[in-house]
Amino acid sequence: MSTNATTSRDRAAGPVSLPTLGRLKQDGEKIACLTAYDASFAARLDEAGVDVVLVGDTLGMVVQGRDSTVPVSVDEMAYHSAMVARGLQRGFLMTDMPFLSYATRDLAVRNAARLMQEGGAKMVKLEGGALQAELVAFLAGRGIPVCAHIGLQPQFVHKLGGYKVQGREDTAAEAMLGDARALCEAGADMLLLECVPTDLARRVTEISPVPVIGIGAGPAVDGQILVLYDMLDITVGRKPRFVRNFMQDAGDVAGALRAYVGAVRDGSFPAPEHCF
Ligand code: KIV
Repeated sequence: MSTNATTSRDRAAGPVSLPTLGRLKQDGEKIACLTAYDASFAARLDEAGVDVVLVGDTLGMVVQGRDSTVPVSVDEMAYHSAMVARGLQRGFLMTDMPFLSYATRDLAVRNAARLMQEGGAKMVKLEGGALQAELVAFLAGRGIPVCAHIGLQPQFVHKLGGYKVQGREDTAAEAMLGDARALCEAGADMLLLECVPTDLARRVTEISPVPVIGIGAGPAVDGQILVLYDMLDITVGRKPRFVRNFMQDAGDVAGALRAYVGAVRDGSFPAPEHCF
């Protein structure tokens, strides 16, 4: 891992691409990611050096005030994605495929195309393990970069009965390693691991040829992501254990974003108290 928070990526001309992210993984330089939902915040994230900007379906919760991501529509994702795209010059834009928008191949390809063509996304993210491998291969074969979201999958909240750490038992951990292998073999260009014990996240990262981004997955992954409104302390109510309030010492939004990027790059975030 680089100990210098200013790395070659800051000097490199041009926007972040999949090869850039692959190089950062190879070089052991941590990838800083955050969510955004509009152009103004997207521009601030860009200024701060955030490498990957996710238009997450968390917009249903933190922007729309719903109690899960399930009601979010493709229209809404495309609308917010287009706004974020207009704010970015350097950051790599990834957009979530919302609940059931990829339930069949036809739906998946049509909706991914909308998010890329109308929403300006350079990658789409979908939830699910090995069962999604065939779909990932289908999309990847048509030029659609895919991030596969494993571990806690919030779109399954009503099946899971809540938001819980995943992969604590040996059989669940082995299944998650199998999911990661199958998705990478199918052509996923990135994995996102949510709410997973640190050691399991390290094992997934070691076997994955593509960047693994974690949220509540400890420090041994290739990069970190948080929900913007959580780390800026805008979200009302109790926040998950893996969130750090970067506004507390920063004073302003630009300072908080710079502090986050610095802490991800130098490995000081996440600290043990943010991990499972
Ligand atoms: O929708 C979202 O914001 C996400 C994050 C939890 C990574 O998927």
